[in-house]
Amino acid sequence: MSKFKIVAKTFAGLENVLAEEIKALGGESVTVERRAVSFVGDQALMYKANFHLRTALKVLKPIAEFEVTKRDELYDQAKKVAWNKYLALGKSFAIDSTVQSEMFVNTMYASLKVKDAIVDQFREATGKRPSVNAENPDVRINIYLMGNHCILSLDSSGESLHKRGYRIGQGDAPINEVLAAGMILLTGWHGEKDFIDPMCGSGTLLIEAALIAKGIPPGMYRKSFGFELWPDFNESLFTEICNGEYEKEIGCKIIGSDISIKDITIAKANIKSASLTKVIDLKVEDIIQLEAPSSSGIIITNPPYGERMKPQSIIELYTAIGNTLKNKFTGYEAWIISSSLDGLKSVGLKPAKKIDLFNGALACSYRCYELFQGSHKQAVIIKKRLV
Ligand SMILES: C[S@@+](CC[C@H](N)C(=O)[O-])C[C@H]1O[C@@H](n2cnc3c(N)ncnc32)[C@H](O)[C@@H]1O
Repeated sequence: MSKFKIVAKTFAGLENVLAEEIKALGGESVTVERRAVSFVGDQALMYKANFHLRTALKVLKPIAEFEVTKRDELYDQAKKVAWNKYLALGKSFAIDSTVQSEMFVNTMYASLKVKDAIVDQFREATGKRPSVNAENPDVRINIYLMGNHCILSLDSSGESLHKRGYRIGQGDAPINEVLAAGMILLTGWHGEKDFIDPMCGSGTLLIEAALIAKGIPPGMYRKSFGFELWPDFNESLFTEICNGEYEKEIGCKIIGSDISIKDITIAKANIKSASLTKVIDLKVEDIIQLEAPSSSGIIITNPPYGERMKPQSIIELYTAIGNTLKNKFTGYEAWIISSSLDGLKSVGLKPAKKIDLFNGALACSYRCYELFQGSHKQAVIIKKRLV
């Protein structure tokens, strides 16, 4: 099978975990880029990347790369691509673009030029043209234009890969599935110890944790991928990938709670939809009341950031989170993501690690607290004495 360049897109801060996932799948020449990882592989690897990668949003196959020094050159260069290799008459297409270029201040203009090039090429050759369908196209084309450099790619994923297919309900502020999986993988957890999300909302972190612990590929729930509509789709190869033996026994507990009955009801529905009811325990509980179920484990949580709360309430909530962690979760490691620096300060624990991430447009800090017996300072001294 011939090999080609593949680019997986992700969120800022998750590039290195994505690179590790790609290496584990067998990607070659894995290179970390800005919000993306490029690698080399064959058609099977491209299918696997879509099916297995937890921290990829899109898997792109570049088909043309060129410089654009004048605006008209985008049309001319795009017209040189043999589009009939990728798109048949009677099929529809859509164009997504990431454009940062003084020549194309209006992003839509770049999409329009590439669309015109495709349509004109078909019309000149056959008198007919493929149609554009922005919502549900057969083939998605991606333009990446940075300054003068342009890459045209086919989007092998179709809908963004964060749309796993298990979510049937959401609370007020659900975390993106790709971000949730990335947060878990950044901690190094793969199911070795109990996992708790005490503010679980619709259950995204719990479900992603269960998928990781059980080795279930996130693509298992998807109805379709973009490459299934490509002219070269190899159905038997993809069926073989989907039918692999993945699921393994789980050796830890995965526990979620939330103060809101409504959120727990939504989480229950999502967990049922992912067929994980037997793996995840849920209850309605205020974090203040929470007790540790075992002597060690990991807490990963996404509390409210205070967007719709009074500043005093956010301080009180994060102080309560800090007190619960200090008083009841000795022996645990806790990770909290938040855009509220005042909130994070109120936790009152010294973070052992801080990672910058974005939750949508919100710049967040993802912090790790190691909950040793006694203060953090003492624990560091003890650790130093032991080495
Ligand atoms: C940002 S949302 C979590 C969203 C979740 N990660 C998801 O994917 O749906 C924050 C959650 O914290 C919960 N919450 C707020 N105060 C709480 C408290 N004192 N104890 C437990 N949960 C609380 C809210 O009900 C809400 O569901």
